[in-house]
Amino acid sequence: MFSDIKKSSLSSVANAAASTHPSPSQAVPARALVDCGKWTGQQLSPTLGLEIHNISLATEFSDEEITSLRRLLGAYKVLVFRMQDLTPAAHVAFARRFGALEPAHPFISHHPDHPELVTFVHHSDNRGIENVFHSDTSFYREPSMGSVLRCVECPEVGGDTIFVNMVAAYEALPQAVKDKIDGLGAIHDACVAFGNRQPTAEGREELRKKIPPVEHPVVRTHPETGEKILFVNEAFTTHFANFRQVNDNVWNQDAPTQARDLFSYLLRQARTPEYQVRIQWAKDTVVFWDNRAVQHYAISDYYPSLRSMMRATIVGDRPR
Ligand code: SIN
Repeated sequence: MFSDIKKSSLSSVANAAASTHPSPSQAVPARALVDCGKWTGQQLSPTLGLEIHNISLATEFSDEEITSLRRLLGAYKVLVFRMQDLTPAAHVAFARRFGALEPAHPFISHHPDHPELVTFVHHSDNRGIENVFHSDTSFYREPSMGSVLRCVECPEVGGDTIFVNMVAAYEALPQAVKDKIDGLGAIHDACVAFGNRQPTAEGREELRKKIPPVEHPVVRTHPETGEKILFVNEAFTTHFANFRQVNDNVWNQDAPTQARDLFSYLLRQARTPEYQVRIQWAKDTVVFWDNRAVQHYAISDYYPSLRSMMRATIVGDRPR
């Protein structure tokens, strides 16, 4: 569906962009520039990530412009916008153009006037804990479609976020593994990551009732691009729901061990550098990622410095 968006070199666009926008695109090799219509894009890695220049997210975008951004998101999966001095209200308004926003997060604090803006504020009394590969709210029946994260304040060095293209991770799997996981489901459970905030078994039972574990396909299909996505993550996915094994007509022999081995092999795929891009933040950098197709990992290497971020999370659909 997004085949009309060219990832290859566009020398005429590149030359035009270089002459009209001396900074920062002049420093960018022409082959990394991408035709984004009225904006200029710089590809951040061969696998995913596009930084879009000459754009203000505080703009009242037309429907056509929102469609263009949606298509770029589908194609590049992570969109980066620099120098976006957005008010919280403008942040929310931009994200809302792509769908309804998730209400306040069940476990993470939020902006006092905008419950739909999750806040991640880490400093000497509160170390960063988002340093595990995950897809936001995959423990919901309808995990989020995407997130718009703005850097309010960041350390001078460190605190980068890694994003991983889980379409690339799926595509590179050996065919035998693809065959094996075809039709498999896996359980996603909020309790794995957030159960430690409930000191008692009763508290954890309550949490399970409020947010019961859900089953999602191990391989989901992107509703807009049609791409297949490896959809298991280290933070929230606990086990296969329906792994079966037959060896010499003996059902289930070694199945638990094989299931665990395969499961951890799939989880490890997100750690592959070739599927990743690493984003360095600056104050007012905004990153918009397609949460269906990518996982992320916020590197917690900046302690005791302050890192403060705000995220609007767009409601998604049921993985299929
Ligand atoms: C998140 O996990 O959504 C936060 C990512 C970050 O702070 O970089």
